[in-house]
Amino acid sequence: MRNKLVAGNWKMNGSIAQNKALLDGVAAGFAALLSSGDTAKGVQCAVCVPFPYLFQAQSVLQGSKLAWGAQNLSQYEKGAYTGEVSASMLRDFACRYVIVGHSERRALYGESDAIVADKFEAAINAGLIPILCVGETLAEREANVTEQVVARQLDAVIVKCGAASLAKAVVAYEPVWAIGTGKTASPEQAQAVHAFVRNKIAQLDGAVADGLQILYGGSMKASNAVELLSMADIDGGLIGGAALDADEFLAICRAAQR
Ligand code: PGA
Repeated sequence: MRNKLVAGNWKMNGSIAQNKALLDGVAAGFAALLSSGDTAKGVQCAVCVPFPYLFQAQSVLQGSKLAWGAQNLSQYEKGAYTGEVSASMLRDFACRYVIVGHSERRALYGESDAIVADKFEAAINAGLIPILCVGETLAEREANVTEQVVARQLDAVIVKCGAASLAKAVVAYEPVWAIGTGKTASPEQAQAVHAFVRNKIAQLDGAVADGLQILYGGSMKASNAVELLSMADIDGGLIGGAALDADEFLAICRAAQR
């Protein structure tokens, strides 16, 4: 049985002072969850913070059961790429995860499928676990091309890195129309795309497909997490807004317990 993963995506939020309270709160709450007997079984938890706060996340969370990571990385190893951050730099801060191809990066920073695949490869090569985001816009859903869009986004990575590379990765299905809008995909809508993703990968490698954690992202919160996480192919959440509140985030972690 696959573990559930609840990963926070803080986006461009936080300050040293705010983070301290949030990280302390989440670490203490998650530790309590883990020590309360049969609870927290099969749940992993991580926070993906802005680059400047990786050191803070590492300082507060090392020794805890929480992992941490970044929200982006460069596809290049090093050199004349002003303003960029490499995979090995993320490793220096003991990151476990890195979000790759978030829809905001694709839409606002021109990250094409090819660039996303390069970044995915850079993460894998450095031993980071990429959280590969895929998902359709509202216009694409309404035009009935959700599966084509998600397939195209996955194929870019599969062609470049091979289906086996997904054994070292996480996929997050994030319908763009549900991100930060308060509109959540219904459990059935999300499950349908998750099953599509898993079946598509199963055609290439059954074992990889079976083991792959596929997260749902898009306005997941404590009040809808139980329903979403009870679906067969939803293996956790990538949490934006609700990750900025320790109680809300921990409630989602609780909802992910078996
Ligand atoms: P949201 O963001 O939970 O605020 O909708 C999710 C994401 O963008 O990863």
